[in-house]
Amino acid sequence: MLEIDHLEVSYGSIRALHGISLKVPEKSIVTLIGGNGAGKSTTLRSISGLIKVRAGNVRYDGQDITNKPAHEIVARGLCHVPEGRMVFANLTVMENLHMGAYLRKDRAGIASDIEYAFTIFPRLKERISQLAGTLSGGEQQMLAIARALMSKPRCLMLDEPSLGIAPILVRSIFDQIVAINKERGLTILLVEQNANLALSISHYGYVLETGSVLIEDTAEALRKDPQVRAAYLGG
Ligand SMILES: Nc1ncnc2c1ncn2[C@@H]1O[C@H](COP(=O)(O)OP(=O)(O)OP(=O)(O)O)[C@@H](O)[C@H]1O
Ligand SMILES: [Mg+2]
Repeated sequence: MLEIDHLEVSYGSIRALHGISLKVPEKSIVTLIGGNGAGKSTTLRSISGLIKVRAGNVRYDGQDITNKPAHEIVARGLCHVPEGRMVFANLTVMENLHMGAYLRKDRAGIASDIEYAFTIFPRLKERISQLAGTLSGGEQQMLAIARALMSKPRCLMLDEPSLGIAPILVRSIFDQIVAINKERGLTILLVEQNANLALSISHYGYVLETGSVLIEDTAEALRKDPQVRAAYLGG
């Protein structure tokens, strides 16, 4: 469903990605792990059109989307939830959800998707009129994911959904990522520092280091790999 081939990206004179290739099959969960500055967020940004790709290409759903404008990529059903959960702080939970559906006109579909969002994240329903900026970090992450779902994506890219969130909420968010994948058939590309947790819900994984793919394998094999265990899974 999503395939990137020899992607190269630079910030000014600094090369961030040195020819990364990866594949995300339809309806799978694929995770990118790697240390700080490895290029995980840059990979997601270049797929979603937020930064310009110097070389290589991105194919989505059989079409070349390399360097297409970000809004066009969202409209094709590829949605990116960036690091740091950018919700609209001065809008309510409900208003944020409607913002996620701004490209849609099917009112009945929007209403039923809001209901679905409240089914997976009941905390949001309890806080429907609360300003997003006053939600806890974990609740803001739930809202960011729920808002992304409102664009009716077929592929969702999540950047560090566990960052700075209480462990109990992290578990529940990850359970819901699995539910979205199973119930809605969404393809998911996940970036996570919490490699153990990410691999536990993923089918396949890539380990990035300084802008290159170091190792790739099934999530199960990566969890057993001594090198991966020592460097990323705490031994
Ligand atoms: N806006 C920017 N301007 C210049 N360099 C950048 C910029 N964003 C990222 N970089 C550099 O690109 C490299 C890859 O960064 P990236 O944010 O993709 O890493 P990451 O794997 O997501 O790391 P982290 O786990 O810390 O989020 C790093 O060396 C970083 O310093
Ligand atoms: Mg990052």
